[in-house]
Amino acid sequence: MRTESGRIINLADYRPTDFVLERVDLTFELDPTETKCTSRMLFHRREGAATDAPLVLDGDELNMTGLLYDGMPMEAERFTEEDDVLTIRELPETGSFEITVDTVINPEANTQLMGLYRTNGIYCTQCEAEGFRRITYFYDRPDVLCVYTVNIIADKESCPLLLSNGNFLGGAGYGEGKHFAAWFDPHPKPSYLFALVAGDLGVVEDSFTTMSGREVVLKIYVEHGKEPRAAYAMDALKRSMKWDEDVFGREYDLDIFMIVAVSDFNMGAMENKGLNVFNDKYVLADPDTATDADYANIEAIIAHEYFHNWTGNRITCRDWFQLCLKEGLTVYRDHEFSADQRSRAVKRIAEVRHLKSEQFPEDAGPLAHPVRPTKYREINNFYTTTVYEKGSEVTRMIATILGAELFKQGMDLYFERHDGDAATIEDFVKCFEDASGRDLSQFSLWYHQAGTPLVTVSSAFDQAKGVFTLSFEQMVPPTPGQSAKEPMHIPLRFGLLLADGTEAQPRAIEGAEVTGDVLHLTKRQQTVTFSGIPTRPVVTLNRGFSAPINLHFEQPLADLAHVARHDSDFFARWQALNDIALPNLVEAARGARNAGEIAVDPLLADTLIAVAGDETLEPAFRAQILALPSEADVAREHGGNNDPDAIRAGREAVLEVVAHKGAELFAALFDRNHTRGGFTPDAASAGKRALRNAALGYLAIAEGRPDRAAKAFETADNMTDLSAALTVLAHRFPDAPQTAEALEAFRARFADNALVIDKWFSIQSTIPGYGALDRVRALMESPLFNRSNPNRVRALVGTFAFSNPTGFNRADGAGYRFLAEQILEIDPKNPQLAARILTSMRSWRALEDVRSDHARNALRTIAAGEKLSSDVSDIVERMLK
Ligand code: ARG
Ligand code: ZN
Repeated sequence: MRTESGRIINLADYRPTDFVLERVDLTFELDPTETKCTSRMLFHRREGAATDAPLVLDGDELNMTGLLYDGMPMEAERFTEEDDVLTIRELPETGSFEITVDTVINPEANTQLMGLYRTNGIYCTQCEAEGFRRITYFYDRPDVLCVYTVNIIADKESCPLLLSNGNFLGGAGYGEGKHFAAWFDPHPKPSYLFALVAGDLGVVEDSFTTMSGREVVLKIYVEHGKEPRAAYAMDALKRSMKWDEDVFGREYDLDIFMIVAVSDFNMGAMENKGLNVFNDKYVLADPDTATDADYANIEAIIAHEYFHNWTGNRITCRDWFQLCLKEGLTVYRDHEFSADQRSRAVKRIAEVRHLKSEQFPEDAGPLAHPVRPTKYREINNFYTTTVYEKGSEVTRMIATILGAELFKQGMDLYFERHDGDAATIEDFVKCFEDASGRDLSQFSLWYHQAGTPLVTVSSAFDQAKGVFTLSFEQMVPPTPGQSAKEPMHIPLRFGLLLADGTEAQPRAIEGAEVTGDVLHLTKRQQTVTFSGIPTRPVVTLNRGFSAPINLHFEQPLADLAHVARHDSDFFARWQALNDIALPNLVEAARGARNAGEIAVDPLLADTLIAVAGDETLEPAFRAQILALPSEADVAREHGGNNDPDAIRAGREAVLEVVAHKGAELFAALFDRNHTRGGFTPDAASAGKRALRNAALGYLAIAEGRPDRAAKAFETADNMTDLSAALTVLAHRFPDAPQTAEALEAFRARFADNALVIDKWFSIQSTIPGYGALDRVRALMESPLFNRSNPNRVRALVGTFAFSNPTGFNRADGAGYRFLAEQILEIDPKNPQLAARILTSMRSWRALEDVRSDHARNALRTIAAGEKLSSDVSDIVERMLK
């Protein structure tokens, strides 16, 4: 593993390779500990490259057993193998030549799960970003595209299935109980999209007829016996394929599309050409074992990886700085897909909740970086919520600024102009400029400036003149490496609501460009006047969260309540309620910290209860309304000197008030939204369950007894209701005998189902309060805990650190010391997993002094660790800087 480092890669240093790779033939002879790989690569010198430039190929912990030049052993003087780099000199100025590299790989020992590894007896690969170089020396960079032929030889008995990218060429016996298969992928691709899978798996098969009438075979491979649990994923895949044709005009381009589900995987999934590899958590589902949230995730991730076929594979990235070119765009596409499959407003609320709770803290802390960074030390650490989710928001803003029609023309131009390319963000943006004639240079700052812009707004109304004025001031906070910022182009969807329920139609608007319902902020300070306004309007700003910003607008509470009850945009309604709730929760936290009184504005509880009880609104929306801003949301709003115990105490006090005031309504919602008789994962049913379980949460507070949740647990006929009831029991009544019984019943029933046992660990690791750490430590001793399975480690250790604010941020610092211990233990085996979990401390500087001192010490303990991976040392150093 690379413990080297300090080496920084800069965008400015990009240059193309000196040689062009024309094709590669790979042969794998699979063995658990001694897999032989032979790679034959055909090169020629690039036109214009220096005639004496050597061929420099990347490796990582390789064991090279042979090196040939045009089929003959390479003379020792002509190459060096040093620091994970193979350098070959004295190569021809013109004409093609062949380099053959033999390596021996130990898949069984590959615990970092990058390159070729084994999981539950299955051989599989993960090559993005730089895993291919753990298989063989290669131009392991996304701008080197070529066609691949892959031959796989393996034991027939244990590996009846031999898969790689592209189309199946043929197979045969191979003597001594072995067999072989050959695959050819006609689409030139970079090495990070290579995949190989071999083993004994069950399959679900289906087919899809594309828009031009081609029949595509669809196969999802899962462990034997789990085939029925892949049905929903298959359905989601077919819907994704159809949607990409209907909405983006994109057709699939091979005869076969395969998905393989594995149980040891560092990330969610991987879009290898024609052969996606998935964390099985995002494939397997049935009503008894998967929650509505699991179903929604599966749908989104199946779509995401499928959509990469065009945004990522057909058009890939020139270098890893351009990661958002494929990830931000593809997240945007999967968000749109889910919005079309479900309730658009509810989907948007969930997206924004996620963005604010994950990306905003990243952007406000020591790990902040631009959507398109300019330097990195460890690329694995840039698969971040900023690149993915903020990257998606930036794409969404292009659509907002251009409007649907021009956005579509820009996308079409992008597909047409860059198909087959390794492109850049500049290429992408240029397509929208060319399609629309609009200058997007200021807009492009969204790719380059880190930090969440803060827009402060004030308003004034001149009744006599009928003029309404909005004054804006924008500020982008400093972030690491970027102290001064330029003003951004911020598109704000807005409306001016009149008392009679209509929207004002201003006679004239001055001071900003307005297109349709979008107001374009472009200056540091901007005053916008609206004339011809009859009465003082209620402003609704940033409808649909058209720009990913923090908005400070001191609106009268009554105005917010009006928006919450009447806006035509349901996202804006949710946002308004949030804007009523957050200051209340922050105040409550201050009160709790100062042991003062906690006052709760009656308007908050009343509006919440009124919206929750409004039967004209869809249940999923009402459930979102009932989920108050989280403790993490309050911490972010609080902004510094945070005391998680006080934040929780304050929020609990608000919950109490709502729970008691609304008890009658919640009991009714609980009874009326029971989905009986056969589970279906559709959005409407999921919404009813969400509303019912939100009501259960409040009832547990109002009633102060576990009885109702215990009964709900006993009678639940699906995993959504079962796990919701168990969560209420565990989090509200951790010491009740009913809770112990329920936890044990759950464990016994699902002991052989890893994904469900992950839930069992997560529910317990998020029980709030001081005792959480001891509970987590005890759970680590459970025979069900498995250190080498990333899902299990994330479910227990990751969830504790990320999602248990009071338990993890214990005032005595024991939570941080525990994390340091864990990071140092995980790192040597799986650096990516360790680095990811470590980012749970990204907001440590916003903690009050006692805690932040403990946090700093824990980070220093990690930094002082011996032989840290580049993944962990990069994160810990940036956090301490
Ligand atoms: N491209 C994958 C996706 O669909 C993520 C792969 C990330 N892998 C990694 N080692 N960082 O988003
Ligand atoms: Zn992706």
